[in-house]
Amino acid sequence: MRQLDSANGPATRRQPSAQTILNGEVHNWYRLRLGYSDHLVADLLDKFGLRAGDSVLDPFCGSGTSLVECMKKGIDSVGIDANPSSCFAATVKTNWQLQPTTLLSLLDDIERAFNRCLRSSTLCTDPTFLYLKETGMLERGWISHSPLLQSLAIKRAISDLHTSSSYKNALFLALIAEVVDGASNVKFGPELYCGPQTPSLAPRAPPSRLKPKMEQQKVVVFLREPKWGAGQSKRCSPRVLLCTTTT
Ligand SMILES: C[S@@+](CC[C@H](N)C(=O)[O-])C[C@H]1O[C@@H](n2cnc3c(N)ncnc32)[C@H](O)[C@@H]1O
Repeated sequence: MRQLDSANGPATRRQPSAQTILNGEVHNWYRLRLGYSDHLVADLLDKFGLRAGDSVLDPFCGSGTSLVECMKKGIDSVGIDANPSSCFAATVKTNWQLQPTTLLSLLDDIERAFNRCLRSSTLCTDPTFLYLKETGMLERGWISHSPLLQSLAIKRAISDLHTSSSYKNALFLALIAEVVDGASNVKFGPELYCGPQTPSLAPRAPPSRLKPKMEQQKVVVFLREPKWGAGQSKRCSPRVLLCTTTT
């Protein structure tokens, strides 16, 4: 069993902070800023002696760090969260049955469709555009006009793909991560704030960014590994539940 307490660990080894991700893989597909680190969860699973055949309940699962770490060890898990977007991220990140070659070929399809989608006159009636406009977020500069239209064109291209919702959702999650980290002016310090506006014509969210992003984050490499994509994960069944409250 590994030591959790850095005070008891070897003097030369610095323990990473609780929110440091040591192994990006699926975790970085989309991460909550307040998400736990993979090593913290992995160490706790070891500390409790949990292994395949056991079950874990995470009632505040966020974007699914604990569920992903459980999957790696073949442990069944149930995650609950009140935030639909966290449930969406956790559901996508615990579907390891996607074929990496299909994902890459869909990214090529998106790239080909991008310019046609960008010319569409209906982007300004997209519900996301209307929401950002009506709430004043567009005017206040949370995202600049040009990157927004490019992001919506990618969204349209993903929606139009002839593929299953599992693949579309995986690509939507990659797009969301790209919008938060690249296309928008959202900054974390650690509180959320709106950074300086980008020049209106700066192309900050072209589809060509999605592909390297997914490769850099090792999602595709990860899913290619037989150990993960179609191996150990098949022996356990993570479930993500949206918790709704009534008053
Ligand atoms: C710190 S985050 C958890 C992060 C998670 N461990 C991860 O690594 O991604 C806390 C989560 O609790 C959820 N939450 C807060 N209150 C809740 C409630 N009453 N019921 C269910 N989920 C709740 C939030 O939506 C948020 O996703």
